Amino acid sequence: MEASKKYNVLIENNLIDKAGEIALSHSLKGKVCVVTDTNVAPIYLPRVKKSLLESGIEVCEYIFESGEKSKNAQNFIEILNFLAENHFTRTDSVFALGGGVAGDLAGFSAASYMRGINFVQIPTSLLAMVDSSVGGKTAIDLEAGKNLAGAFYQPEFVLIDPTVLSTLPKEFLNDAMAEIIKYAMITKNKLPNLLVEENITEIIAECVRIKSEIVHKDEFEGGIRRLLNFGHTAAHAIEALSEFKITHGNAVAMGMRIITKAWENRGLCEKGTLSYLEKELEKNSLLNKCEFKAEELCEICANDKKLEGSTLNLVVPLEIGRCEVQKIKLEELTDILKEGIG
Ligand SMILES: NC(=O)c1ccc[n+]([C@@H]2O[C@H](COP(=O)([O-])OP(=O)(O)OC[C@H]3O[C@@H](n4cnc5c(N)ncnc54)[C@H](O)[C@@H]3O)[C@@H](O)[C@H]2O)c1
Ligand SMILES: [Zn+2]
Repeated sequence: MEASKKYNVLIENNLIDKAGEIALSHSLKGKVCVVTDTNVAPIYLPRVKKSLLESGIEVCEYIFESGEKSKNAQNFIEILNFLAENHFTRTDSVFALGGGVAGDLAGFSAASYMRGINFVQIPTSLLAMVDSSVGGKTAIDLEAGKNLAGAFYQPEFVLIDPTVLSTLPKEFLNDAMAEIIKYAMITKNKLPNLLVEENITEIIAECVRIKSEIVHKDEFEGGIRRLLNFGHTAAHAIEALSEFKITHGNAVAMGMRIITKAWENRGLCEKGTLSYLEKELEKNSLLNKCEFKAEELCEICANDKKLEGSTLNLVVPLEIGRCEVQKIKLEELTDILKEGIG
């Protein structure tokens, strides 16, 4: 992984038992605060802790209630105070152990404490492995909306142990598959030939490679990184309209399908792209109909923070493995969504 800073993403079975030696090999010798949630802590914290202690690294832990609600300013401040109380300095480290919530919360805390201390990601959900732990975005939610405060902050290294996925509830596995299918759609890569469960380690590695490459070319989101938003314009509106009862992955699945259907109908994308997408979504129980109307979705899109005047950047498919960004007028969006939902 290469961006403003080069760092390793290590992927191997049972790697969490080597967290200590890997930390030392990356010159992290100071204290470690492991930030993790109430689901992950009982299962994996003891192993990570044991490994760190055996390497002579002092460990403390900050455990928060699992779930998105915890990605808030209160926990952020609590972590900063916890680090201060435990006399953490810039030679010490924060380790995120958990899903995207732990990664984002711990990452933003690490970025802020003393203007930045060492940060390590140990993602334990599939989504965190293939998406949130790569790319250096960290954030917390504010009352006004998700991810409204945050920083770009790169970890020292990312440690991925695919065996921990055995305890991840199926719904979260399916949800993450939506982002993996998204990667298969946006650039040419190996994923279309890999998408069966037995290949999970290779799938993760390929997703990390794809995201790293895109982020490297465009760390702060001017150009190609926008491809990662495939399906997300409609998805954000769908999530909001459902009051977040529809999960992100399901919303992304609907969003990708809507735009692909509209584009294939218009003859603007290669025939067969939609059926491929639908087949992959179906395999992961992600083929669900969008129950909202185009007008409702469009109203939400009009308030999107990513809007530039009255045009928005929409990621559209051209074929499997090739998408591009097009500037679309807001008025046009309603028609596109209508065609895609209908
Ligand atoms: N920073 C980024 O670039 C980025 C990208 C995508 C998503 N995100 C953020 O990621 C978050 C969603 O991530 P998520 O889906 O991982 O959510 P999450 O962290 O809440 O994890 C999902 C659930 O799985 C549990 N869990 C995690 N690993 C487990 C394991 N191995 N065994 C058993 N249970 C386990 C968690 O306790 C939680 O209940 C959102 O806040 C989103 O905004 C950030
Ligand atoms: Zn997403």
